[in-house]
Amino acid sequence: MAKPPLSMKPTGWFQVAWSDEIGVGDVHTMKYFGEDMVSWRAESGALTVMNAYCEHLGAHLGYGGKVVGDVLQCPFHGWQWSQQGRNVCIPYQERPNRGRRISTYPVVERNDSVYIWHDVERREPYFDAPDVFAAFGDDSSADDYYPQQRLYRESLELHPQYVLENGVDFAHFKYVHNTPIVPKFTRHDFGQPVSFVDFTITFQGDDGQQIEDVNSGVEAINGGLGIAVTKSWGMVDNRTISAITPVDESTSDVRFMVYIGRTPHRDQARAAAKAQEFGREVIRQFEQDVEIWRHQRYSDPPALATEEYQGFTAIRQWAKQFYPDGIGGSAAEVYAAAQKG
Ligand code: FES
Ligand SMILES: [Fe+2]
Repeated sequence: MAKPPLSMKPTGWFQVAWSDEIGVGDVHTMKYFGEDMVSWRAESGALTVMNAYCEHLGAHLGYGGKVVGDVLQCPFHGWQWSQQGRNVCIPYQERPNRGRRISTYPVVERNDSVYIWHDVERREPYFDAPDVFAAFGDDSSADDYYPQQRLYRESLELHPQYVLENGVDFAHFKYVHNTPIVPKFTRHDFGQPVSFVDFTITFQGDDGQQIEDVNSGVEAINGGLGIAVTKSWGMVDNRTISAITPVDESTSDVRFMVYIGRTPHRDQARAAAKAQEFGREVIRQFEQDVEIWRHQRYSDPPALATEEYQGFTAIRQWAKQFYPDGIGGSAAEVYAAAQKG
């Protein structure tokens, strides 16, 4: 294990909870990016994520704070704060303090998840959090799938970039996931903050087959460093979301979600049980990766095999745009090291 040398304060969308963890009237306490935060759901259903401390005398709003209609009331002196973090009521004074504001985060709820936009420079979101259905433009929706199955691992010593690098790492599939042959990448598109990786892969058959003959694969979309969604084709219909969120300077929370496609079947109960089982298998494979990542030391510049240069150089160069300090393993260094062999 080693503290990642990459910034733990990257810009982008990051998952901080699941929607069903925060019901109407709930105040939920959490810590991400080294900041204490609260999320709370107003009577209207609107969800707010804000810094945890009251701007009056600094009470933590997560311990005794109360949702009153559409505002959050501090447990200490009853000051009320709006969904924009504005002070809207001081109960023992006619006027609120209009100048004071608790910082809030842009929030979206998507695919049963709560995502916040984190940016140390406080810029507005400049790309979208990917939707595991809509992002693939194939008219699919949650109705076509069984309910989401989840994995949650708290405070692991790993960095979000490790997880994304998995997406260009063709060689690990055979060793970590026991695929019979090495997958082949058919698309690497790192031109925008939302990037695309497609590959052909099979979990069937033996090592005598040729990857060119395989008729199954995965399409992946990375929405920045925090959220990646995948869609499979030519195998059991599944979609996944991996969401890695830095907690502090050395650890991240890992969330992984799987959807298995519904199929017309005479025996619905049996089909649902099969889907459960398959979902668990997909989660098990992701956990195999987690075991590597959580003990990994970031290698920069890495020793790469010839065929690995292109993918790793592209993803590391792409990742740099999300780091406030620009540290992310320079592509030039990666390339130079690769040339030296
Ligand atoms: S500290 Fe919140 S109202 Fe006083
Ligand atoms: Fe993997």
